[in-house]
Amino acid sequence: EKGGYEHFMLKEINEQPRSIADCMRGRLDSRAGRLILGGLRDYMNKFQNADRIIITACGTSWHAGLVAEYLFEEFARVPVEVEYASEFRYRNPVINSRDFVIAISQSGETADTLAAIELAKQKGATIFGVCNVVGSSIARSTHAGSYTHAGPEIGVASTKAFTAQISVLSMMALMLGYQRGTLPESKYMELLSELEAIPAKVEKALKLNEQIERIAAQYKDARNFLYLGRGYNFPVALEGALKLKEISYIHAEGYPAAEMKHGPIALIDEEMPVVFIATQDSSYEKVVSNIQEVKARKGKIIAVVTEGDQSVKKMADHVIEIPRAHEAFVPLISVVPLQQLSYHIAVMRGCNVDQPRNLAKSVTVE
Ligand code: F6R
Repeated sequence: EKGGYEHFMLKEINEQPRSIADCMRGRLDSRAGRLILGGLRDYMNKFQNADRIIITACGTSWHAGLVAEYLFEEFARVPVEVEYASEFRYRNPVINSRDFVIAISQSGETADTLAAIELAKQKGATIFGVCNVVGSSIARSTHAGSYTHAGPEIGVASTKAFTAQISVLSMMALMLGYQRGTLPESKYMELLSELEAIPAKVEKALKLNEQIERIAAQYKDARNFLYLGRGYNFPVALEGALKLKEISYIHAEGYPAAEMKHGPIALIDEEMPVVFIATQDSSYEKVVSNIQEVKARKGKIIAVVTEGDQSVKKMADHVIEIPRAHEAFVPLISVVPLQQLSYHIAVMRGCNVDQPRNLAKSVTVE
């Protein structure tokens, strides 16, 4: 059942080229210039005319929501708020019938997310679900939705569900941008093929596994880790840190790289591994200067970079080179080595990777 892998988590990490392709199958066809999400059909008007998009979720699904905030704002120019379901539901939030709420959940059973949906529904908003488990409570309680089609995710640490969520949200953002006229046709067409090219690039990124295993061996005894990224890779930094915490029990924090100097920089010394996501995108130069700041304080630098990158190589202790992609879709690739890193560290520390202590696959209590 683990398909020859030692753990479900590793199997699910490796399934990503296929699960992302499955998620886009029948929905996206760049050559035909076609993008269809069946679940949106009856709600396209509401979606297109929404004053605001509110995304609500927990944990890893919340991180996917943060990526979506960048996507929706860049492509569709709609204001977006991303809310932890547990905070949103108790805050007496301002919501009305012109809000379009997207609830993201792998299991479709998360109690806080379900309660946030009920609240937004009472206030007259339209609720759209992005769930993996078919027929789950959240899938049933929303007005409409699109499944992620990632297949069953057994490992408690979410991997392939995260990339499938981002895939659905990317398609939604492109569709919305096109419909609202904020994405010109030529740009839209280009982005469709960029997105379609992602599974092959993830496949290539997965081949870095052995390199990452060697890096893991070197840092498995670290007591803390910092993960830093900017722009589209900021949520990836949060996700990398969460993966490490939950399965290896090493304390890790994810931060937007520029926030480091407002506090976490005090933690940096020669014992501190810092994982940078430093791909060549619009924040690259800024991230490079953040790497220099860590280097000057003798932190150990592990950098995920675009293949062929030369500048970061000169500063970092390790560079992990991933295929080049449009910056909006880079999270789908850059998260993969971070999943592998946490996996290998956890295995080397003798942790129960698929069922970490104190965690459950679906959190049905608040
Ligand atoms: C992280 C993880 C949790 C879940 C969170 C939300 O690896 O598994 O943080 O992402 O409990 O779960 P769903 O997506 O099922 O609502």
